[in-house]
Amino acid sequence: MGRGTFFTTEHLAIINEDIFSTRRIPAHGIDLVVTSPPYNVDIKYNSHDDRLTYAEYLGFSKRWMKRCYRWLRDDGRFCLNIPLDKNKNGQQSVGADLTTIAKECGFSYHSTIVWNEGNISRRTAWGSWASASAPYVIAPVELIVVLYRNSWKKTSGSRQSDISKQEFMDWTNGLWTFSGERKTRIGHPAPFPVELPLRCMKLFSFVGDTVLDPFMGSGSTLVAALRCNRKALGIEIDPHYCEIAMQRIADEGRRE
Ligand SMILES: C[S@@+](CC[C@H](N)C(=O)[O-])C[C@H]1O[C@@H](n2cnc3c(N)ncnc32)[C@H](O)[C@@H]1O
Repeated sequence: MGRGTFFTTEHLAIINEDIFSTRRIPAHGIDLVVTSPPYNVDIKYNSHDDRLTYAEYLGFSKRWMKRCYRWLRDDGRFCLNIPLDKNKNGQQSVGADLTTIAKECGFSYHSTIVWNEGNISRRTAWGSWASASAPYVIAPVELIVVLYRNSWKKTSGSRQSDISKQEFMDWTNGLWTFSGERKTRIGHPAPFPVELPLRCMKLFSFVGDTVLDPFMGSGSTLVAALRCNRKALGIEIDPHYCEIAMQRIADEGRRE
């Protein structure tokens, strides 16, 4: 299969294109963006160089966020899964910097969810071991920064929610604890667990809404959309990851 629409069903589409050149996303047609962009920590992706300078990485982030801003409806929302800090090749406040960039692109800030990945250690070095001379501190968490285009109050869509009272109470507490996904199980170098986009969809979108993941990877967001009856579009530059996503969607259909 060539570049372009890789796979479609009535409610899902995988677009095998570059986020910067695709023309397949309608302007103001998206209710919710949920995504985890490349973190620029030298992950070995098939088709993306994850070793930009930090300045280049911030430029890349601004360019793709501007596109997402155009694609969202006026009351559309943006759930951005990013690291809090980075300490490989120089300390950086990635979470703070990308939040500032999102605001520069026009987004309004709502809140930040801290995802406690529990069993994951992000530690790559101690700095000065057991000495105050130059110790390194790194928290084993990631962020889901929640932003919106123009109005936080959501008026478009079916107005039908499918979140239970217990889920609402638990998930509006902005410390989420669940495990990360195993790369080897999925066959992708940096998948997030389906639980992450699923919670975002049930908390921040209505049944039948259209969700976009512009860095779809192995398709976790599309699997979550299938589970909660949202429509979903995924953009992914690498055809092999599109294959994995298509297979996961087929497996999910068989599970039902
Ligand atoms: C952190 S991974 C996303 C993983 C995904 N959340 C999952 O669960 O599998 C980022 C993805 O963005 C893709 N990517 C990088 N640059 C891209 C671009 N310019 N356009 C579209 N996809 C891109 C990479 O190939 C990679 O699969």
